[in-house]
Amino acid sequence: MVGEVAVVSGASYGIGRHISKQLAAKGWHVALLARGLAQLTQVQEEITQAGGVALALQCDITDRNAVRACKQRIEDDLGTPTVLINNAAYVAPLHKFAEGNPEEWEKMISVNVWGTLNLTREILPSMLEKKRGKIIFMSSKAGVVPTPYLAVHSGTKHMVEGLVGALIQEIAGSGVSVSLVRPGGVATPGYTHAVESGDGGSVPDWIPGNFDECIKPETVAEAVLFIVEQMEHADISEINVTANTKIKE
Ligand SMILES: NC(=O)c1ccc[n+]([C@@H]2O[C@H](COP(=O)([O-])OP(=O)(O)OC[C@H]3O[C@@H](n4cnc5c(N)ncnc54)[C@H](OP(=O)(O)O)[C@@H]3O)[C@@H](O)[C@H]2O)c1
Repeated sequence: MVGEVAVVSGASYGIGRHISKQLAAKGWHVALLARGLAQLTQVQEEITQAGGVALALQCDITDRNAVRACKQRIEDDLGTPTVLINNAAYVAPLHKFAEGNPEEWEKMISVNVWGTLNLTREILPSMLEKKRGKIIFMSSKAGVVPTPYLAVHSGTKHMVEGLVGALIQEIAGSGVSVSLVRPGGVATPGYTHAVESGDGGSVPDWIPGNFDECIKPETVAEAVLFIVEQMEHADISEINVTANTKIKE
């Protein structure tokens, strides 16, 4: 796998940054996608300084033309991707649906649903052509458990789960496989934005109430890496990663 190409969306911070660094440390040539070029470039430099190969590509994945151009740059500069990690997402601060802001809902649907569709639609055909590939979708516990105060976000992740369920059947036996990773409560800027700036006191049961109780993003990245590293031998179709259970007094 050394020298093969992996694409990571949302690579500039949070879980995606760790996934990118861990893949690069194992010899993958990593295309780093996000909107913020400064943070992407920093991740690229960290990878390069550690002896890895990375290409920072500023890309808003909700923009279909930008995604197409980005795919072309990856093909030209790195080669055809073997791995795609659909990691980028946006989560609005926790809120009651009846008090929600439709502009925030639109943002979540654009990134979590359309961004994922755009990138997958662009990259899957070349994987099918070379009969080799793994696509990992970052879902959430909210993708299988309808979650209050995260109603629309939870709906976007259910869409991702439905897409993956259908793809598993469509591409069976093609040499390309898809997997789901479902974290719950990870210490990232996204968690802070959604939970700590959200409707106080409304954190659903399965989400840790503060940053210190969250899973480390490195741990979720390790779960992703495990799926990638096993792809020659085994198809690990899903992994759930939630915070360690604590004894309730
Ligand atoms: N953190 C948690 O508690 C938790 C729990 C369950 C599931 N997850 C899932 O895990 C994944 C990563 O979450 P995270 O907490 O690491 O998120 P995060 O801290 O908010 O990071 C999000 C990443 O996505 C990028 N991004 C956002 N909008 C984009 C767009 N339109 N185009 C391209 N890139 C975009 C951001 O970079 P730019 O802003 O520079 O574009 C950033 O790199 C998500 O799918 C999330 O739903 C997280």
